[in-house]
Amino acid sequence: MTIPIPAEDPRHVPNRAVIDPAAITQNTRALTGLLEEQTALMAVVKADGYGHGMLTAARAALEGGATWLGVAHPASALALARAGLDAHILTWLYEPRTAATVLPEVLSSGIDVSVGSPEMLALVAEAARQADRRARVHLKIDTGMGRNGVLPWQIRELGPAMAEDDYTQVVAAWTHLTSADDPADPATDQQVELFDSACEALADEVGPVPLQHIANSAALLTRPDLHRDLVRPGIALYGYPPVSTDVPLRPAMTLTSRLALVKEVPEGHSIGYGRIHSTAQRTRVGLVPLGYADGLHRAASDRCEVLVRTESGDRRAPQVGRISMDQIVIDLGPDSDARAGDEVFVFGDAGGVPNAPSATTADDWARAAGTIPYEILTSVSGRVTREVLS
Ligand SMILES: Cc1ncc(COP(=O)(O)O)c(C=O)c1O
Repeated sequence: MTIPIPAEDPRHVPNRAVIDPAAITQNTRALTGLLEEQTALMAVVKADGYGHGMLTAARAALEGGATWLGVAHPASALALARAGLDAHILTWLYEPRTAATVLPEVLSSGIDVSVGSPEMLALVAEAARQADRRARVHLKIDTGMGRNGVLPWQIRELGPAMAEDDYTQVVAAWTHLTSADDPADPATDQQVELFDSACEALADEVGPVPLQHIANSAALLTRPDLHRDLVRPGIALYGYPPVSTDVPLRPAMTLTSRLALVKEVPEGHSIGYGRIHSTAQRTRVGLVPLGYADGLHRAASDRCEVLVRTESGDRRAPQVGRISMDQIVIDLGPDSDARAGDEVFVFGDAGGVPNAPSATTADDWARAAGTIPYEILTSVSGRVTREVLS
């Protein structure tokens, strides 16, 4: 038996991840604007839509021109199919035990599946037999990521099984880039060369394959030659391009909380576990009831800022001391008029207040924690209520 953790009543907790679906729609529209007419866009909404809510993200991206949805887990793909969205769906990560129970239903629901090994091909073929439905297979080719995918030279070996099985049809060949966020890295071209020759071998073995897809957000933004039939952006949809770009993209998630208390402390007062911070002067500190169990990375301790909305306006304040499990402390400065209950923007848009100093972003938190915005966004934990703007 599995027992869910009891949810906290959101009315009793101040922490919110406010999701703006219009930002995802506009970001998707801006990205589809870069594509030739024959190229479709698959919105990658895995990991609960990079923390934004999978269905919220999917609907918003479809409104912006996406026609495909991509997720890692078959269970997520089923949830998308059950929501009745008008989109092609692809799922790409499963293992034999759970796949045996979920794949027949996945295939019956018309979902495309990725195959990245001979064993996965056998699993999918068996599930297709059970579902009495021909599986639409995207053959994943490992051109250097070294994770999921058949090695280019395995295609000849797999060819007969793919060509002869009436229950599987290879509708796409695809690969994933290791280094597209560094446009100067020759690895991308090396991967594409391997992919192209693997695609030739595949066509020899199984006949023409209708679709090819390669590009993640970074390649979508920097390599129009890699758009092929379908692009698969994730992070850019949520407003965090992994390469510098003029394409207007804006963050779709704002993480907010409220001050639990404000107090004055003297110069030299230590803050938090391990006393890594002591106040440089008499100052006012604010306690924010949000910590690493909510998704703030402890590695970012004492290295980032938040924005506090007080009666007199919006002010940035540094987070000081170690990030605790449930709370952080911010230095409001000696003359702050901040009071308990005031809103704190941890990252994301500060509500569009004219002339307000902008809030920090998931990029700022990522830099402070030595990670990437992907991890910041997907770390916002289940106990933070997602509030979707309408
Ligand atoms: C297979 C695959 N395609 C596309 C993406 C989207 O990548 P990005 O978020 O960098 O656009 C991901 C995400 O990691 C992925 O795993």
